[in-house]
Amino acid sequence: MILDLIPEAARAAGLGALMKGAGKVTRYIPIPQPTLLVGPGSSVRLAEAIAGFGHGKLLIVTDAILAKLGILKGITAALDASGTPYAVFDEITPDAPIPLIERCMAFYRDEDCDAILAVGGGSSIDAAKAVCCAIANPRPLRKLAGYLKGRASPVTLYAVPTTAGTGSEVTVAAVISDPQKQDKIVIIDPRLVPRMAALDPSLMAGLPPPVTAATGIDALTHAVESFIGQWASEYTEGLSLAAVQMIFANLREAYSNGGNLVAREKMALASTYAGMAFTRANVGYVHAIAHQFGGRYHTPHGLANAMVLPHVLRYSAPDIVPRLAALAVRAGLGDESERDDELAEKFMAGVEQLNRDLGIPTTLEKLQEKDIPALARAACAEAETYPVPRYMTVKQCEALIRKLLPQKADKAEKAAASDKKAAAPKKSAPRKSTKKA
Ligand SMILES: NC(=O)c1ccc[n+]([C@@H]2O[C@H](COP(=O)([O-])OP(=O)(O)OC[C@H]3O[C@@H](n4cnc5c(N)ncnc54)[C@H](O)[C@@H]3O)[C@@H](O)[C@H]2O)c1
Ligand SMILES: [Fe+2]
Repeated sequence: MILDLIPEAARAAGLGALMKGAGKVTRYIPIPQPTLLVGPGSSVRLAEAIAGFGHGKLLIVTDAILAKLGILKGITAALDASGTPYAVFDEITPDAPIPLIERCMAFYRDEDCDAILAVGGGSSIDAAKAVCCAIANPRPLRKLAGYLKGRASPVTLYAVPTTAGTGSEVTVAAVISDPQKQDKIVIIDPRLVPRMAALDPSLMAGLPPPVTAATGIDALTHAVESFIGQWASEYTEGLSLAAVQMIFANLREAYSNGGNLVAREKMALASTYAGMAFTRANVGYVHAIAHQFGGRYHTPHGLANAMVLPHVLRYSAPDIVPRLAALAVRAGLGDESERDDELAEKFMAGVEQLNRDLGIPTTLEKLQEKDIPALARAACAEAETYPVPRYMTVKQCEALIRKLLPQKADKAEKAAASDKKAAAPKKSAPRKSTKKA
């Protein structure tokens, strides 16, 4: 790569120009969209529709928790009623590793299936996408990582997301993990977008609050990173802003009152809009860093994003004040009459407050100082493929990641406590003397 020969400081400027140019081309790449069914019961309507498409046998790809919770019941009942044959693979785990994808592929072949219905969070949908691609292109999964590596069109896929976060039902990407390299790999192909999808809030009512929180901030991160990046277009901006508005208006309610299907449906739509925005306009440093935490420490994707988002926003702020101001207005955190710098600060503070309200931790327990240089290097290498508004050097990225170190927080707390102690005598002295008197 020519860029590898350029000193780091000059690279940032070069990358910025290169990415801006690339964005002028990428916005015209055709990306299909699934037919979307929305609302309570839409997953059953989707199953009824699939039954009419004449597949020989459908493979339902999901995880064991969802199968136990009975999330599949309405779907399988509709398939049974229509006499559509299906088999269920319910072993998907978060960030599905390559050997598990290979087991799912073997199951698909043994059962002689010819289409897949993914029911679950991003992990189940992405595992299903990887299976669809690898079945049609029989070569090692690692060789399918990257842009358009499979020649043949993937197997037909339908999706029912059960989290409101990844937007995978509308994106061109499948994120899986490579346990050998302790890394995540991404297969990217517009033909991976499912043919049809259902956003059924009734399946999300039992999503535990911490998962609601983390996945909701994943959606927020997609909306924000696609909006502040250099590939944002009028089309993606509209989607990003709508998603931000819906998330600020509904995520707290979905978190504290999961049974509120109106809030759940709005979050599902917001996640889809944000997915449509970022699958065109891409993501940025939040994802680049979060992916490293996921690969090395298995930190849930949304949680990693949520912890990193405030820091990346503060780093990027000098170059994106008007963008942050526009986000603040749509998030309902201020109004257009205010100064842009004030609104930008309100948006960053608003994200930090949202994180606090959702119980998102400020430090990553598993993070170790010795891992930081490698994490930062890998994150910066990944971010070079993203159209971010302000590039970082590896040292700057290290400093950012260091803010999430648990011992640093402990130290800061101790320092704050001793500061308080030092300050205390000044106030307590007069009281003591009053007592004596
Ligand atoms: N393809 C993309 O465009 C894209 C975008 C962002 C993230 N991702 C990937 O998606 C994965 C994360 O997906 P996720 O955040 O949706 O989490 P997930 O699929 O890993 O699910 C998280 C947990 O929530 C449980 N769960 C899911 N739905 C539930 C429900 N309705 N009720 C109760 N429990 C439920 C699951 O069983 C699981 O234990 C990561 O691998 C990430 O890298 C992909
Ligand atoms: Fe994400």
